[in-house]
Amino acid sequence: MATISAPHRHLLGIASLATEEIEALLETADGFVDLNRRSDKKLALLRGLTQINLFFESSTRTRTSFELAGKRLGADVVNMSVGASAIKKGETLIDTAMTLNAMHPDVLVVRHHDSGAVALLARHVRCAVINAGDGTHEHPTQALLDALTIRRRRGRIAGLTVAICGDIAHSRVARSNILLLTRLGARVRLVAPPTLLPPGMGPQYGVELFHDMRAGLEGADIVMMLRLQSERMQGSFVPSLREYFRFFGLTWEKLASARPDALIMHPGPMNRGVEIDGVVADDIDRSAILDQVEMGVAVRMACLDHLTRHLREAA
Ligand code: NCD
Repeated sequence: MATISAPHRHLLGIASLATEEIEALLETADGFVDLNRRSDKKLALLRGLTQINLFFESSTRTRTSFELAGKRLGADVVNMSVGASAIKKGETLIDTAMTLNAMHPDVLVVRHHDSGAVALLARHVRCAVINAGDGTHEHPTQALLDALTIRRRRGRIAGLTVAICGDIAHSRVARSNILLLTRLGARVRLVAPPTLLPPGMGPQYGVELFHDMRAGLEGADIVMMLRLQSERMQGSFVPSLREYFRFFGLTWEKLASARPDALIMHPGPMNRGVEIDGVVADDIDRSAILDQVEMGVAVRMACLDHLTRHLREAA
C-alpha cells in the first residue's frame, strides 16, 4: 500500500502529497474510526516513540486531536505550551527547532502563525514534521478529515459539488481543501464577498467563484462554512458582523438553494450568528460538524502511523 515515505518524510501540505498517498491515508484512517469507537482504543504502533506538539498559535480541537491520536497509538506525547516557553523570550524558530531536535523526538506536530514557518522548521530537525496549520497557507490534516467525513457520509467525493463559503482569503483550511477536493474529482465553488477571496483565485485553480450565497449554493452537495478569521485581518474586510450574517451567514433560507440532503460542514471554532445560524449548525441530520471532529482523531492517527512506518521497518 502507498504510504508517506521518502521523499515525503514530513506532512507539510496537500500540495506535496501524491493522490495515491491521500487515498492510502484515508483508507488507514477509515480503519481507525472503528478502533476509536471501541472501549479499548489503544494500539502499540508508536510504542517507544516520542511526539511533541509544538503550538505557536492557540488551538483546542487540533491539539487535543493530535494528542489523543498519538496516545491511542502508544506514543509518549508532550505538549509544548508556547506561552511559557523560550519563544516568548526571543528564541528564534530555528533555535527552538534545534533544541527540540536534540531531545530526539520522532514526530513534531507544529502550528505556527506564519505561512511557511513549519516547512522552515522541518529543514532543521531530523524527525518527521506534521503541519497542524501554518498562517494562511495549509492545514493538511483538516482537509484529510473533511475528505474522510464526506466520503463516509456520501460514499464518494468525485462528482460532488462542494461550496466553500466565507473567509477564504485568510483560510488555510480552504486552501488545503481546494487542493484536495479538486484532486479527488469534486467540483469546488468558492462563495465569498470579493474582499474575502484571495487575489488571483479563479478557474486556474479548478474552482468557480460566486459572490452570492443563493447562487453559489444552488444544487450543492456539501456546504462548507468557514470562520471569519478576524485575528488575521488588518483593517476591516466586512462592513459589520450583522451585515455579513445577513448576506453570507448560513441560514435555512439560504440552504434551501442547495440539494435537499446537502451536508453542512465547519472546521470549528464556529461563530454562531456570524457565518452560521446556530440552529442550522445543530441539526443532527444535516450537520456533519461533530463527525468532522471524530474523523480528525482517526486521520491524525493515520498520518502518525504512515510517517513512522519506516522506523518500525528499520527496527
Ligand atoms: C481552523 C484553523 O485553525 O485553521 N481550525 C481548526 O483547525 N479546526 C479554522 C479556524 O481557525 O477558523
